[in-house]
Amino acid sequence: MKARIYVARDSAAVAVGADRVALALAAAAARRGIDLDVVRTGSRGLYWAEPMVEVETAAGRVAYGPVGGDDVDGLFDAGFLDGGDHASRLGPTDDIPWLKRQTRLTFARCGVIDPLALDDYEAHGGFRGLARALSLGAEATIAEVEASGLRGRGGAGFPTGRKWRTVADAPAARKYVVCNADEGDSGTFADRMIMEGDPFVLIEGMTIAGFAAGASKGFVYVRSEYPDAIATFEDALGSARRAGFLGGNVAGSGFAFDIEIRVGAGSYVCGEETSLLESLEGKRGVVRARPPLPAHKGAFGMPTVVNNVLSLAAVPFILQEGAQAYADFGAGRSRGTMPIQLAGMAKYGGLFETGFGLTLGELVDDIGGGTWNDRPIRAVQVGGPLGAYFPRTLFDTPFDYEAFTARDGLIGHGGIVVFDDSVDMAKQARFAMEFCALESCGKCTPCRIGSARGVETIDRIRAGTARGEDITLLEDLCHTMKYGSLCALGGFTPYPVMSALRHFPEDFGLEIEPVGAE
Ligand SMILES: Cc1cc2nc3c(=O)[nH]c(=O)nc-3n(C[C@H](O)[C@H](O)[C@H](O)COP(=O)(O)O)c2cc1C
Ligand code: SF4
Repeated sequence: MKARIYVARDSAAVAVGADRVALALAAAAARRGIDLDVVRTGSRGLYWAEPMVEVETAAGRVAYGPVGGDDVDGLFDAGFLDGGDHASRLGPTDDIPWLKRQTRLTFARCGVIDPLALDDYEAHGGFRGLARALSLGAEATIAEVEASGLRGRGGAGFPTGRKWRTVADAPAARKYVVCNADEGDSGTFADRMIMEGDPFVLIEGMTIAGFAAGASKGFVYVRSEYPDAIATFEDALGSARRAGFLGGNVAGSGFAFDIEIRVGAGSYVCGEETSLLESLEGKRGVVRARPPLPAHKGAFGMPTVVNNVLSLAAVPFILQEGAQAYADFGAGRSRGTMPIQLAGMAKYGGLFETGFGLTLGELVDDIGGGTWNDRPIRAVQVGGPLGAYFPRTLFDTPFDYEAFTARDGLIGHGGIVVFDDSVDMAKQARFAMEFCALESCGKCTPCRIGSARGVETIDRIRAGTARGEDITLLEDLCHTMKYGSLCALGGFTPYPVMSALRHFPEDFGLEIEPVGAE
């Protein structure tokens, strides 16, 4: 019988040698006269174990990782094709504790199937959510998404079903679905993993959104730094069209929908939905004043659903299994699962999908395993460059939208960046202001000018000159940016700055905790 192994083609796995390992395994098999099928999958998200190799055995898949080129002969000698023992053996894949503790709804197929094999996708439940949506009708599809409690995974946590209903109710000759795949937040990679590892789930989610909202065209706005994701997704679009899942008659239903990729040139603010729409239309990425909301007047002036990749990729499960099956997971008003991305100095970095509600401490200490150099964790930034820094005293915060907001933080796109005790938090505060100054679209004064003055003020504080006055000035500046900025880039930059000042005053040369910005 032909032996079969699985090696990720995900760009993060490739970056640590997955292509080399796949080639070396195929070459070694040929030398040994073994008929070997090397299937390239997405990543399971255990980046700490990549390049990971999975072997199909009679008892299911067995994983080995990280596997280096030098391990290849040793693996064959150890009989790894039958699950044999080896230093890199992680055991049956489904029993690896890091994977077993997860609830994989959105990422159920990622790392399991060949991302470009439509039949593999369908064999694993693919397109059943779309079939149910088409049989339910648009109104009932929206009701199902509302009942699931799904909220936007791009950052703001706005209820997805409500957004779809607004677009569905807006009278217009043409409507659009725009998938936000800009993924600018530090420490995040889940959108990329979906586009590289399970692109059909995004196509299915967008098609359901289009059907529900009455849109005939979808765009995926993706960053140019994701060439592999773009190529894989483009390929998947072609297969979906050929199989009749996109085009003039989606799955024989009479509903017409197609998707096009638009590549951004690389700007953090182009992830903000209105500047994204400007950029998508070929203009400079500058934030639009609201109202009108994109749901009323979005792409090309037409009502538009703008959703993150993860929001859309959660939809097929909701339609296939029913709203309640999704809503059963989670905590409080944060329903379902969140694909959390552990990054920075986390010992076990990667993608961990779980229901909302685990504490930050459980995520970074227990699942993330602390830091890779075993130094103590000093701070954790959650939610990208605009997220607050949390010290250990806040590690009891449950991972859900409301709990983080209550502690002046945000969960954003689910990125968690871990810092060890060598971090200089005054430097991090400066970095936040500098980032805002560099990425500001320039439309409003508090952000454009405030961030530049913020950098100068922090520089003076760090240099130890005119300390007292400058702290007051920095707090005042943060207050103005928070309440006077047109969008969340200027409005949220005060969070990392003020949290650094509040929780780590000693790094600013202060002996007492300063009062917050409010
Ligand atoms: C500065 C800035 C950057 C943003 N970057 C992203 C991004 O990279 N991806 C994303 O999905 N949303 C991003 N957002 C949020 C979007 O404006 C918008 O809320 C989101 O795409 C809506 O989709 P959702 O409801 O599915 O979350 C950003 C917002 C701001 C203010
Ligand atoms: S806050 Fe900054 S990025 Fe947002 S509109 Fe104002 S200048 Fe542009």
